[in-house]
Amino acid sequence: MSDNQQECDVAMKKVIYDTDIGIDDAMALLFLHYSPEVELRAIVSGFGNASVENTTRNALYMKDLFQIEAPVYQGAGRPYSVAPDSDYTGEYPDFVHAENGLGGIKILDPLSKKETKNGAQAIVDLVQDEPGEVSIVAVGRMTNLAHALELCPQLPQLVKELVVMGGAFGFNNHNGNVTPVAEANIWGDAPAAKRIFQAGFNISIVGLDVTEETIARPTFFEALRRDGGKAGAFIYAISRYYLNFHYQTRNRSECPVHDSSAVAYLLRPGYYTTVEARVDVVEFGPSKGQTVFDELRESRTRICTAVKAEEVLALYMETLTSGRAVLIAP
Ligand code: BDR
Ligand code: CA
Repeated sequence: MSDNQQECDVAMKKVIYDTDIGIDDAMALLFLHYSPEVELRAIVSGFGNASVENTTRNALYMKDLFQIEAPVYQGAGRPYSVAPDSDYTGEYPDFVHAENGLGGIKILDPLSKKETKNGAQAIVDLVQDEPGEVSIVAVGRMTNLAHALELCPQLPQLVKELVVMGGAFGFNNHNGNVTPVAEANIWGDAPAAKRIFQAGFNISIVGLDVTEETIARPTFFEALRRDGGKAGAFIYAISRYYLNFHYQTRNRSECPVHDSSAVAYLLRPGYYTTVEARVDVVEFGPSKGQTVFDELRESRTRICTAVKAEEVLALYMETLTSGRAVLIAP
């Protein structure tokens, strides 16, 4: 019996996906969508890998393409501490994800529409509707969550589990990918991350310590294209740009599995070794975005320190090439 079949009896996880879609975010969205253990309740967009207009459009485009039922709520377009009326103009890593955020593939205007409610309010309402039932997978800046916390200070007690892709704590020699000490999601809104890490959520942090130990190679993408139907072909197409970026910067035709690792943690925490800790974030200055920790037993915060990477990759592959992916793929 496969891992997925064994988990069928387990209660479905109700998930809000907070994301800056993004190539690896798109891969993680398909992982959630096709997992038989997940009820995707909402997609909340944010700025990060591209502008919030583009990440929202990407979510809507994928909703159309893969018939994803979850509503799409547009979230923050600028960092937490930047006033809404300032003349902020963001800069986005188009060299990693392309200007459209999806590796430059042709994107048709979506038929689906975003919801009128904003992302932070949607998070609060969905969690308050089902206290203790909803998990959040956050794989972008934590701006939406910081605004949600402001709207609802009890949020940490109402959310079942928060899984964050972000940060780097020096395990396995991984420290930063934007600066020598900072990971992109934390660096992009350090004040928001600090608030969320210190708010008392039941939180698991899946940082570069493990995502950079989980490596997708060309054979992985080729297998997805061969066996993963429409989703596999889509992932293959968007990953060309991402692999090229990693080839240019690291001279290797392979890439770390960032955002899908947060989904893997949600589904199979046993694939990860963790340490309980208190976490802080450097908000300003040359070390902006650095994540630091103090080991602390009985903390509600866990940091991933090691991963069974082959199992993570196999779970992703199985989810995208069998069961629900084959049965419900349009
Ligand atoms: C994180 O930054 C983004 O580029 C990725 O989508 C991921 O969430 C990795 O540092
Ligand atoms: Ca992301």
